[in-house]
Formats: sequence, structure tokens, C-alpha cells
Amino acid sequence: MENILVTGGLGYIGSHTVVELIENGYQPVIIDNLSNTKIDVLERIERITGKKTPFYREDVRNIEKLQQIMTEHDINGVIHFAAYKAVGESVEEPLKYYDNNIGGLITLVSAMEKKGIRSIVFSSSCTVYGEPDVSPVNENSPIKKASSPYGNTKQIGEEILSDCPFLNTIALRYFNPIGAHPSGLIGELPLGVPNNLVPFITQTAIGLRSELTVFGDDYNTKDGTCIRDYIHVVDLAKAHVKAVDYIKQHPDKQFDVFNIGTGNGFTVLEIIKTFEEVNQVKLNYTIGNRRAGDVEKVWANTDKAKNVLEWEAHLTLEDMVRTSWYWQKSLATQP
Ligand code: UD1
Repeated sequence: MENILVTGGLGYIGSHTVVELIENGYQPVIIDNLSNTKIDVLERIERITGKKTPFYREDVRNIEKLQQIMTEHDINGVIHFAAYKAVGESVEEPLKYYDNNIGGLITLVSAMEKKGIRSIVFSSSCTVYGEPDVSPVNENSPIKKASSPYGNTKQIGEEILSDCPFLNTIALRYFNPIGAHPSGLIGELPLGVPNNLVPFITQTAIGLRSELTVFGDDYNTKDGTCIRDYIHVVDLAKAHVKAVDYIKQHPDKQFDVFNIGTGNGFTVLEIIKTFEEVNQVKLNYTIGNRRAGDVEKVWANTDKAKNVLEWEAHLTLEDMVRTSWYWQKSLATQP
């Protein structure tokens, strides 16, 4: 049995990945400081998988505790999700982001080095490409100067890991994860007003927000709204299992990076229209100003993940908006 430490394992992507790890024969061990999720997620993971998962309410910056957990559970590898991710907040409070996202990574990798653990999968982001000159972007597309401290922590994180020869690292550059587990038991749990498009859509549809604002319709795209590569979180979770498998099979490879998207770009208005059609709900929205720092269009070339990791996305945009809505409705009926 391979024991995988999953930092941030009760978060949105982390929780879905824990489920996939268990379903593929791995034993995850979760640490999460619950800064952006709730403890109930643990019990929900157990309901889906029928298995109890060891959990520690801990911060990745606590090196003593990390080492203790690594020893106690005989950890063979790490998937590192624990990080802050709100672009706007990172501009307001940059040190909070550098401390958690970079400080946490350094502490984690130091603990791994001390314990002789080499395998790590790192949550990176398509944000490293900035506003690309052409899409789809592949892994050799230029890395642009980060437009926010959040984006910079992902760039620096990749650099730190690629500078550590005692590691076998895979960095996954996520595009836009949306959707939820088909059980309706886990999904995204934004605390406060959501920054991201789909949680804002579902909260508006259910009446928690009065209206959605589309941030600009004067971009150089087919309908004037921005284009992103939306990927179902369950497909994304499976990519982590493939990455862990790959590292096991290629212990001599020090560092590699993969785009994790579908390869398709959709506009904001296409997401809204698909959400309305698939779920048969009317969404109250208006067109507003552009949001500062938004990229006009970006979508992935996913050939490398397909050829090397033997991973590709299978779920459709319809699956994504249907499960997002199912999750929002099941949240509303929770005690
Ligand atoms: C960004 C980053 C991504 C990062 C993520 C973390 C880029 C290309 N992507 O995602 O790497 O991991 O933040 O949160 O930099 N929109 C609206 N109305 C809303 C909310 C969003 O119109 O109320 C639009 C945005 O303008 C954008 C699209 O929806 O065009 C997607 O936005 P969002 O879900 O916030 O994700 P990104 O900004 O693409």
C-alpha cells in the first residue's frame, strides 16, 4: 500500500483527489488547517468511499508535526494542495500569500528531504502563462510575468521544486476546475462571496446572490466575453492519481510539468447558456465592466498529459454544469 500525504485534502480539489486515490488503491493521509473548508468534508469522503481516512488539523508550516505524521504513516509521496488561491486578495495581502504558499512549500519539502521522501505532485496553474500570445498553450509556451502575488507563488513554487534534485516532482498546471462529485456529497465550498464564475452562477441561481455580473463583453472573442478551459474536478482529481503512478514508474525523473485541461475554450456567455439549458433554470445576469487583471483567452494543449501521463479529460461541459448545480442544491438542503 502506498501512503500519500495530501495537504489541503479537505479542500475542493483535494477532497475529490482523496476519493480517487482511495478508489485506485492508495491510502491518503490528510492534513488541512480548515482555513477554507469544513470538517464535515471528511465524513462525506468516508460516505463516498466506505473508508476512514486519517486526518490531522494542521498547518503545512509546522515542520515538526509534518515529520511526525510522515513517520507515523510511513508516507511514500505527497500531493500538495494547501495554499491560498484568491487572486484579488493576494494583491491586497501579498505577504499572506508568500508566507502560506511559499513558506508552506519550503517547510513541506524540508520535511520530505529530512524523511527521504522524494515524490511530490504540486498544484500549479495556467496563470503562469499570463495572457498568452496564442492558444492553445503547451508546456513550452512562455511563462509571463505574474499579474498577481498569487500567480507569482505558483511560478516560484515550480522553480523551487525544479531546483531540488532530491525530489521527483510533477507540477500540474490546472486550467479552470468546476463541477462536483456526482454523489452531491462534495464540491466547492466558497466561504463568503465567491470570486470564481461557477460558484457565483450557482449561488445566483439558488437565490443567495441577486445577480451575476459578466465582467466585460468587449474582448476580442466570438461573443466578446473571456474564454477559459473549464475542466471537471473529477477529471482533474484523476490526473493526480496518474501523476503519482507516473512518478512511481519513473523514479529517475526529477521534474516535469503538465497542462491539465480539456483542450476546449468556452466563453462566459457559453457557460451561462449551457448552465441554463442543462439545468432548466433562468439566470439573472448583467454585463458589467472588465475585471482588472483578467486574461482575455487561454486554453490548453493537453497532448503531453495524454501521451506521457496517459490521462485525458472525459467529462463534458454539460456534466460540469449539471454536477455544480446538483451540489449547490444539495448544500441548500443540508442541516
Ligand atoms: C483565475 C486564474 C487561475 C486561478 C484562479 C484562482 C487565470 C487565467 N486564471 O481563474 O489560474 O487558479 O483564478 O481563483 O488567471 N467572471 C465573470 N463574473 C464573475 C466571476 C467571473 O464574468 O462573477 C468571468 C471572469 O472574468 C473570467 C471567467 O469568468 O473571464 C472565469 O473567472 P474565474 O472563475 O474567476 O477564473 P479565472 O479568473 O480564469
